[in-house]
Amino acid sequence: MKLSKRLQAICDLINENSNIIDVGSDHAFLDIYLNKYKNCHCLAIDKSPFCTKTAKTNAEKYKANIQAITNNGLENIQLKDEIIVISGMGTHSIIKILNMDITNDLILSSHTNVDLLKEFLKTKNYYIYKEVFIEDGKTYNIIYAKNKGGQYEI
Ligand SMILES: C[S@@+](CC[C@H](N)C(=O)[O-])C[C@H]1O[C@@H](n2cnc3c(N)ncnc32)[C@H](O)[C@@H]1O
Repeated sequence: MKLSKRLQAICDLINENSNIIDVGSDHAFLDIYLNKYKNCHCLAIDKSPFCTKTAKTNAEKYKANIQAITNNGLENIQLKDEIIVISGMGTHSIIKILNMDITNDLILSSHTNVDLLKEFLKTKNYYIYKEVFIEDGKTYNIIYAKNKGGQYEI
């Protein structure tokens, strides 16, 4: 299966067998790819029931074993060691979703105001572990952020 350059770049940052929560999953192509080719356990979350239905149909079509649910962001989701992916949203939406107690690894691709997102991450005690730029018609920014947890210094 062929992903867009942006989604492929996100998948390339993720190790095999990882646990993933993809917020704003839409079609869930990222989750399907990660499950099929990297044996990841993926929870695809979207606030739109239509997107959840599409995600399930796509998962069936590509014979992927993912979970897809309709939910507002991470509301009432019990977090463990998952990497949280949020891509294809603006910074304000991403901040709303992450404005909670959180220490999980984050992979974020915002299409607006990346500087504000970086400021927000600092206030949440995160540091930028990796940052990649992808050219695909326009330039996309992808940030892999980890919580300092008192062990790291910027
Ligand atoms: C443009 S799509 C991005 C799809 C995919 N993540 C990507 O990067 O190509 C944004 C998706 O985020 C979903 N979304 C926006 N706010 C959300 C929220 N608070 N909780 C869950 N899903 C949300 C929308 O319904 C939409 O399907």
